Amino acid sequence: MRLGPLLSIVLAGVVLAAPSRRSNHVVHEKRIIDPVDWIPDRRLDAEKILPMRIGLSQQNLHRVEELLMSVSHPESPSYGQHFTPDEVVNLFRPSDQTISAVKEWLTSSGILDHRLRLSPSKGWIEFNATTAEVEELLQTEYHVYFHPETGAEQISCHSYSVPEHIREHIDLIKPTVHFKRRLPSNAQRKKRSFNPGLPTGSFKPGPKTNGVKPQVHLPSDLANCDVNITPDCVRALYKIDHKPVNTARNSYGIVEFTPQALLFTDLDMFFGNFSPTQVGTRPKLVSVDGGVIQTIDQSFDFNGESSLDFEYSFALTDPQPLTLLQTGDLVEGASFDNWLDAVDKSFCTFEGGDNPDFDGIYPDDLPGGFQGPESCGIIKAPNVVSVSFGQDEVDVTPAYAQRQCAEYAKLGLLGTTVLYSSGDDGVAGGGGICLDAEGQPSDDGSKFSPGFPVTCGFLTAVGATQVNPGSTVNDPEGACEQVIFSGGGFSNIFALPEYQAAAVTGFLKNHPPPFTSAQFNNSGKVRGFPDLSANGANYVIAVDGEFELVFGTSASSPVVGSIITLINDARISAGKGPVGFINPAIYSEKFASAFNDITTGGNQGCGTPGFTSTKGWDPVTGVGTPNLSKLLPLFLELP
Ligand SMILES: *[C@@H]1O[C@H](CO)[C@@H](O)[C@H](O)[C@H]1NC(C)=O
Ligand SMILES: *[C@@H]1O[C@H](CO)[C@@H](O)[C@H](O)[C@H]1NC(C)=O
Ligand SMILES: *[C@@H]1O[C@H](CO)[C@@H](O)[C@H](O)[C@H]1NC(C)=O
Repeated sequence: MRLGPLLSIVLAGVVLAAPSRRSNHVVHEKRIIDPVDWIPDRRLDAEKILPMRIGLSQQNLHRVEELLMSVSHPESPSYGQHFTPDEVVNLFRPSDQTISAVKEWLTSSGILDHRLRLSPSKGWIEFNATTAEVEELLQTEYHVYFHPETGAEQISCHSYSVPEHIREHIDLIKPTVHFKRRLPSNAQRKKRSFNPGLPTGSFKPGPKTNGVKPQVHLPSDLANCDVNITPDCVRALYKIDHKPVNTARNSYGIVEFTPQALLFTDLDMFFGNFSPTQVGTRPKLVSVDGGVIQTIDQSFDFNGESSLDFEYSFALTDPQPLTLLQTGDLVEGASFDNWLDAVDKSFCTFEGGDNPDFDGIYPDDLPGGFQGPESCGIIKAPNVVSVSFGQDEVDVTPAYAQRQCAEYAKLGLLGTTVLYSSGDDGVAGGGGICLDAEGQPSDDGSKFSPGFPVTCGFLTAVGATQVNPGSTVNDPEGACEQVIFSGGGFSNIFALPEYQAAAVTGFLKNHPPPFTSAQFNNSGKVRGFPDLSANGANYVIAVDGEFELVFGTSASSPVVGSIITLINDARISAGKGPVGFINPAIYSEKFASAFNDITTGGNQGCGTPGFTSTKGWDPVTGVGTPNLSKLLPLFLELP
């Protein structure tokens, strides 16, 4: 089962031009199917005032990939010459031509200039208009939808159109097809069966446990790394032997979504056993949109992810201080766009701002909600950010996905490495759900369901490996096949990035998977994931006062984050900057030797064995697991 009815709602913004009633209007966005648990009740009152927001197209977005490559490709003469935040804002804000084209369209349609307001960032145009005016302007009809279970209502239209010459100037118009899936918190709480606290129903849960209690040895015993992973096992696996010295000039942030929370007593229990000098060490808390480290609800589902992330990241990067980006209040929660807002103030309004279908909207008017202003640009992005949460690509609109993906590119331009865990269900979506022939989630679907945002080619997706049963840290690892399967596959939204072209082409040509386009987009023209991997099985963590064994790409991402943080420390010592976006480097021929290629295991799902790990890049374990003693000198050689 998917996690409640929220998940069966699927939106898709279709950006194909299609004729509509007026000859010069073309469909701009369209919902493919209606949400199953919301019933269209009636036409919206023609006199109702709608607060319209038009997200304007950014300029230079078509150059974002080229600009990102210029600062992150190891062969580029401007490698490492990252941009300042102001430079990024000015590069991408909408052009004057875009602003005047949209204004002209509105005024010539009867929405006069004095009613229009341009946001300070110039990212969007706002105006109030009656339903009748908007229906005429966008050639659409608004309906009121009713949610029988909760009595909640919301408005939406099925598709909308704009004049053909306006399309290129507009990203999104709201409120339109974007359906608010967030329910009042009490209703939401009832529906979340096994991942309480995660912001939307489509978020994949954190690490998994198999209920087995670890045998915790002191001192840590490398002979048992196939059944109990400890910090020493991770160090031995990836040759981690670097002690940070530039801790004040370096930064590593981990994102957690309230009410996911770290218990300091667990942190000290873990340190006491595995890293005694760190007892009492705490992360620097950055509260995003009212984020709090709550202690009211305590269980594995509330504390497992945070424990895993911080216990291992602290131990592996000791004495580097860590930043906790605690995102979302206790009432509404939050999503990826919310932490992105916090590190880039221009993203708060970029292309119309956050989307109420998916993101926490602040200030929060629900009782007990965060009343402060939305956290926009409250901190500089840390040099490395690790996020162990994900959604299914099918649950977001292409427009929403593209907006968020462009933001990861901007963080790369600023010199930040963004890491996401690739998912724990192999080729299936969250909860093991796959897609039907129409590409919609279905209990008996057999089409693979890739994750999001890991299919965005401007961030680094981290898959999971394991020390094979009976093997040691000196033997080759395999793809993780215990409790979880490494998320991997190919996007249905994003094109193949240039840096990955040879890897994907080589995989499809030399190791053709036994599937057809009925399972995945095998055109060789779409983004594949993950990019690299790290161990994701049998982690010993302290959680809720006990040691537990946990599994998941949730472990792999913070381990890679720790390794990149150590590389940044060494680069700072050499008078260089952080590595930023690492994909163009890790896919380059020169870097291939710095990875342990994983060639066994698969990522089963959707009633198939999934893809199989092979020589070279594969959509199970990416380019392999890092060997820091080889990776560090390579990154040090770069300017
Ligand atoms: C729309 O109306 C609301 C409520 O009257 C008002 O607060 C807001 O400023 C108006 N927006 C614009 C763009 O005029
Ligand atoms: C696969 O992706 C390519 C490139 O985006 C696209 O043209 C094609 O229509 C996709 N194929 C399917 C079956 O969706
Ligand atoms: C990692 O790199 C070191 C140094 O080059 C090498 O001695 C070691 O064998 C490598 N480890 C693996 C597993 O390849």
